[in-house]
Amino acid sequence: MTDIKELLLSRIRDVADHPEPGVMFKDITPLLADPAAFTALTDALAELTVRHGATKIVGLEARGFILGAPAAVRAGVGFIPVRKAGKLPGATLSQAYDLEYGSAEIEVHAEDLIEGDRVMVIDDVLATGGTAEASLQLIRRAGAEVAGVAVLMELSFLAGRQRLEAVLDGAPLESLIRV
Ligand code: PRP
Ligand code: MG
Repeated sequence: MTDIKELLLSRIRDVADHPEPGVMFKDITPLLADPAAFTALTDALAELTVRHGATKIVGLEARGFILGAPAAVRAGVGFIPVRKAGKLPGATLSQAYDLEYGSAEIEVHAEDLIEGDRVMVIDDVLATGGTAEASLQLIRRAGAEVAGVAVLMELSFLAGRQRLEAVLDGAPLESLIRV
């Protein structure tokens, strides 16, 4: 493993049985509190954004905001928040998706993504891929192009990569760490 991956991994804390029994929660707050690690992560996400020719970053509420916003500033592109339903005040596009129990919905301001945009989606963790998949559907419905998805950590055993394959349609899924 490279130095940056080791640094990032060493700052992610495993919390057993959170938020419910049987779940191993990946807590990124130690990483955020370490300026060297947070800067390295921001630089890596910005580099991927530039390398894949993105013109905008979409961050997925909430932890995707924390990682996506500084990466957008560093890459010199706009930051677009994709929020949980009911938070954005303007005209929105909405996308529902299934959770293990029940469903969820995310939204983006319709005017924020248009034809000609190339969008990099940024989030902290790819688990089942449901959240990222819904965001890609939103981006495509807005008429924008998907430049890729970049996450800090991919939980390979949950097969999010396989779930995203069809909607990525050849665009890259970049995970800095895979466990
Ligand atoms: C978590 C995580 C990812 C998502 C991954 O967000 O931050 O966004 O789940 O899961 P999936 O691949 O199975 O969709 P969550 O909505 O739990 O919390 P947050 O608002 O703190 O980001
Ligand atoms: Mg999240």
